[in-house]
Amino acid sequence: MSNSSILDEFKTTHFAEEKIDPNRKLKVGIIGTGWIADAHIVSYKKQPDVEIVALADLIPGKADAFKAKWNLEGARTYLSGDELIDHEPDIDAVSVCTYNCQHAEPTIYALNHGVNVLLEKPMCVTLDEAVAIRRAEKASGKVLSIGFQPRFDENMKMIKRIVESGTLGKIYYIQTGGGRRRGIPTPFGTSFIAKDTGGIGALGDIGCYSLDMVLNAIGYPKPLTVTGYKSAFFGTNPKYMPCKEYAEAFGVDDFAAGFVRLEGGIVLDFRIAWAMHLDTPGDTIIMGTEGSLRIPSTDCWNGSVGGAMTIYHDLCGTQTQTTVPILRTGADLFDLKIRSFLDAVKKGAPAPVPSSQIIYNQAILDGICRSAELGHEIEIEIPEI
Ligand SMILES: NC(=O)c1ccc[n+]([C@@H]2O[C@H](COP(=O)([O-])OP(=O)(O)OC[C@H]3O[C@@H](n4cnc5c(N)ncnc54)[C@H](O)[C@@H]3O)[C@@H](O)[C@H]2O)c1
Repeated sequence: MSNSSILDEFKTTHFAEEKIDPNRKLKVGIIGTGWIADAHIVSYKKQPDVEIVALADLIPGKADAFKAKWNLEGARTYLSGDELIDHEPDIDAVSVCTYNCQHAEPTIYALNHGVNVLLEKPMCVTLDEAVAIRRAEKASGKVLSIGFQPRFDENMKMIKRIVESGTLGKIYYIQTGGGRRRGIPTPFGTSFIAKDTGGIGALGDIGCYSLDMVLNAIGYPKPLTVTGYKSAFFGTNPKYMPCKEYAEAFGVDDFAAGFVRLEGGIVLDFRIAWAMHLDTPGDTIIMGTEGSLRIPSTDCWNGSVGGAMTIYHDLCGTQTQTTVPILRTGADLFDLKIRSFLDAVKKGAPAPVPSSQIIYNQAILDGICRSAELGHEIEIEIPEI
């Protein structure tokens, strides 16, 4: 065992440190009982202070099947998020696990009824929706956290620590993104790839992770302008899809790129691919006046650090490199995401992944789409909330 993994054994995590009061139970519901709801329920079932009281899905029988699969005897089932909220006046919190185009509506409805929300990523599809969500959150005073579990990865926290330590000096240029040679998600149907359910493709599904990795590290500066591009050469071609019907249903991007100017004189060069003829569209690099950080990409981009990171800097007048080894997180990232949300609800504390930050992530996704459609650079305008 290497030194770092021996030391990792002694690391305490947020999850282990929390004193959970099992007598103060939270009543929780899940809206949308598809693929990702499984990950939510696995984590909720580990929490001693959670009672799953309600489940909702638009597809008749789907919430009941989920209830049976996970032995949730006490849970009541409904045919929409709104119906669940209407019939569960005592519910404390919901996980919104619906497809992207159904993120905003049930989230706003829940917040308007005083219910705390853990909303899956991406925050939503458009900037207008993100603004409406933020307004509902602000009016409600409830906790809204966005489901970016990579935030809880020790390697992601290390990237932020490196930037905040000043080791890189002033940051002026960032390249980020990721890709999959073939990785268009069609796990149980077309909800990721149809325009009326997914809304946005690679951009929202995995692009939001790349943006969060670097924007969180540098303190989420406001995006000012963007030049965007998007295409769909793979998703619409039956040659690259599981069947002809899926290629016909494909209505989103499978590749997108953007050149973004951020407040503070930083530029961000971004590209993301669900499918391409390439191994990787590049590592993430953060360039600063005192040093630069290279974060290796992964083969199948899902928001994780692909290997040991390298800091390039000068030491006593000599150009040198420092390797930052991969760190082990010591707890499941989904468990940490769920627990941190529950803790915030119980304590009335700020959301672990706040929408005040993620709205900038959404503004970039939205800006890339609008710029790509217009064919020129645009200014990003985020209304006061
Ligand atoms: N954090 C992660 O690692 C991760 C991984 C996969 C998916 N996701 C996100 O989770 C979301 C859902 O993905 P999925 O793969 O579970 O999709 P899915 O299509 O398998 O499931 C979504 C379900 O929501 C239901 N639904 C839609 N609108 C509803 C409403 N208003 N009320 C009740 N039910 C409604 C649909 O009928 C469907 O069963 C997506 O936004 C996706 O980006 C996150």
